[in-house]
Amino acid sequence: MDVGDVVWSSKWVASLRAVGSAQGLRSVRSAWRRHRADAVALPRQGATRARVPGAAQGAEPEPGGGVVRFARSSLRVRVAAGGAVFCGWDGAGPEPSYALAGGVPEVDERAVLEPDTDGGWRVVSERVLVTVSRHGTVEFRTPGGVVLRRDLPPRWWEAPGGQAATGAAGAGRWMQRSEVAADARFFGLGGRAAGPRLRDGEYRLWNTDPGGSFEPGDDPLYITMPVQLVVADAGTHLAFHDNTWDGRVRLWEGEEGAGSGHDRPGRCEVRMDGGPLRSWVLVGTPARVLGGWAALTGGAAVPPAWALGYQHARWGFGTEQEVRRVAAGYRERGLALSALHLDIDHFRGHRVFTVDRERFADLPGLAEELRAQGTRLVSIVDPAVKAEPGLAVYDAGVRAGAFVKDARGREVRGEVWPGESVYPDFTDPKVRSWWGGLYEERLAQGFAGFWHDMNEPVSFAAFGDPTLPRSARHALEGRGGDHREAHNVYGMQMARAGYEGLCALRPGERPFTFSRSGWAGMQRYGGTWSGDVATGWPGLRASLALVLGLGLCGVPYSGPDVGGFTGSPSPELYLRWFQLGSYLPLFRTHAAIAAGRREPWEFGAEVLEHARAALRERERLLPYFMTLAHLAHRTGAPYVRPVWWRSPEDRALRDCEDAFLLGDALLVAPVLERGADRRAVRLPRGRWYDTATGRAYEGPGQVLLDAPLSRVPVLARAGAVIPVAGAEGGVELEVWAPAPGRTGSGVLVPDAGDGWEQPPVVRFSTRWREGVVEVEREGAAEVGHRVRLLGG
Ligand code: GLC
Repeated sequence: MDVGDVVWSSKWVASLRAVGSAQGLRSVRSAWRRHRADAVALPRQGATRARVPGAAQGAEPEPGGGVVRFARSSLRVRVAAGGAVFCGWDGAGPEPSYALAGGVPEVDERAVLEPDTDGGWRVVSERVLVTVSRHGTVEFRTPGGVVLRRDLPPRWWEAPGGQAATGAAGAGRWMQRSEVAADARFFGLGGRAAGPRLRDGEYRLWNTDPGGSFEPGDDPLYITMPVQLVVADAGTHLAFHDNTWDGRVRLWEGEEGAGSGHDRPGRCEVRMDGGPLRSWVLVGTPARVLGGWAALTGGAAVPPAWALGYQHARWGFGTEQEVRRVAAGYRERGLALSALHLDIDHFRGHRVFTVDRERFADLPGLAEELRAQGTRLVSIVDPAVKAEPGLAVYDAGVRAGAFVKDARGREVRGEVWPGESVYPDFTDPKVRSWWGGLYEERLAQGFAGFWHDMNEPVSFAAFGDPTLPRSARHALEGRGGDHREAHNVYGMQMARAGYEGLCALRPGERPFTFSRSGWAGMQRYGGTWSGDVATGWPGLRASLALVLGLGLCGVPYSGPDVGGFTGSPSPELYLRWFQLGSYLPLFRTHAAIAAGRREPWEFGAEVLEHARAALRERERLLPYFMTLAHLAHRTGAPYVRPVWWRSPEDRALRDCEDAFLLGDALLVAPVLERGADRRAVRLPRGRWYDTATGRAYEGPGQVLLDAPLSRVPVLARAGAVIPVAGAEGGVELEVWAPAPGRTGSGVLVPDAGDGWEQPPVVRFSTRWREGVVEVEREGAAEVGHRVRLLGG
């Protein structure tokens, strides 16, 4: 929104009414303050003529590619060793970047820019062929020559002072249109409630708390990323515009001309309010593309084993006694509970890094007691610090110069749960390390994990954008800049501060952190969750869309508030949500302070019985989840994958949004509709066994499966080897017979802990031999595991 716009948001007004009128009034003041600050400090965007690259004038080869010079711009193309292609306009290089994990990747020395036959240029590499036309159209083709993506010549609108013309990361706007295959489908752009398939429409790139709750129609949400994953018959590619500014992506799916030869290509248009025009493109199978993305932006943090178990949260446990009561409820009913999460109500007056000692007199004692029962405590951590002299964290932050300032050097104040608050500048390395040190207090209170919230960042606003003024100043790693550039990475840098702080404080342990907001590369610092998904069947569907979409952007660990954040789910809805959640990486029940309860026994005996079964199955699958966590870290493949993962050429699968693969072995078909007791399940090619009945089905195709309240359909791939918890402890292998004449495989990464060891990947293969299924452990004579054979 332009700084001149003032729009009342009914949602915010409603949510403010809920938090009290004093806060409501302060949020009006805070919104006006933000509005005025920007009106004074930011130049208005005037009408300027667009600049285009113009005609090519020459080119110079460089290692990995080269530079093409145009009349009014230049383009650098460079292929990295793993096959990722970098394109930077106007002199933009890959750095500085918040996304890249290990700096600029090595170049592929064999790839060199050379003249093409039609007067343009091309760079030939092993996995991708890049061509640059005389007017600046860039095409990415498969090695066989099929076009996967065509980036048309960009346009720039200079900022006052003409910074964009110099290529400095300035305030010039730009726009780039691209074309993809007519059959292509778009995915990604961070966490989108209406996904995972992104249909025609506009998607904003500005991390936003929707306020109160969200449904599938709400966009943007907490995590936006300029990451498109495009799947077409000819191949899959990922395009990443490495630019943190506010932007908009418009998508139009293409249309095939049914043999007429007049296909309408899919199109997309990226518009950014500033910052460099540079992108990375990765081409290949989905697995290869995500592997390349992880190599570029970093492997996902591997959670400690306990964080793969079931967790329960609530805003408003209110007292230590209530926490004990809830924990006892789980224990008495034999329901395994890995963690309990304490929300802002355990802070003193909502002040971060404090404890309300009247209601939580002995947190370390409580933590120890729960720990002995196998339950860890997780603490919420909000970025905003109450602006209150005398408050230790505020005073220390002031002394350290940690808080975000405005253009005149005064603290920027916003309105959050504790009242008037200030915001640490997490784009400053010194501030990150100061903040990271504060977790010492949390560890001393007995907390084992951390839930980073409100870090879009949020400042309640009665109107306009509920965040900091765009003119607020940030360190941006010493480069200096304002909130327009820092906003989208604020949450990710908070997650980084926490993660790195914990690594320093507890060097022997893998931290457990998850963050509501983030950006490309956030997976290095932990996972995320759905945020405030509205209770209702649409919210259930959105829960799956978010997990799938984020996984395709490289963020594999996430999950919803099971039961939804608001209101009271019906027993049926709660159960279906619980069943879905039990197959997602973060499996957590949670709800708002005024919402109904979310403990499984609150919904009647039948729900409790079925929830117990789901929980048992989750416990049984923990070795598999742990294996998937390591694989996600090492290979970039998310735990939860779209059903087209291994067959992206299957168009019917590409459009299937109501089921998913859990790793390679399982296909989970959650029930997302009220009253359903059976559902259609689309199968990828090969044989699949219904794990409840053992019946075999042959894919590709669609089958109708029973989905009684007691379970959701789960199918196992023929030949799969799944590590599961054995009935008598240890890890057991569940082996599904290969189809006749076929073989199968599976892996195990044995890790039951929270240390940094990198356990080896143990590979198994399965085959039929003389009427018997053989399981072989690669590189070892003995199997060493109990094996349970199923199917066949
Ligand atoms: C935000 C979070 C939610 C939390 C609440 C209170 O709405 O998304 O999970 O319970 O704040 O801290």
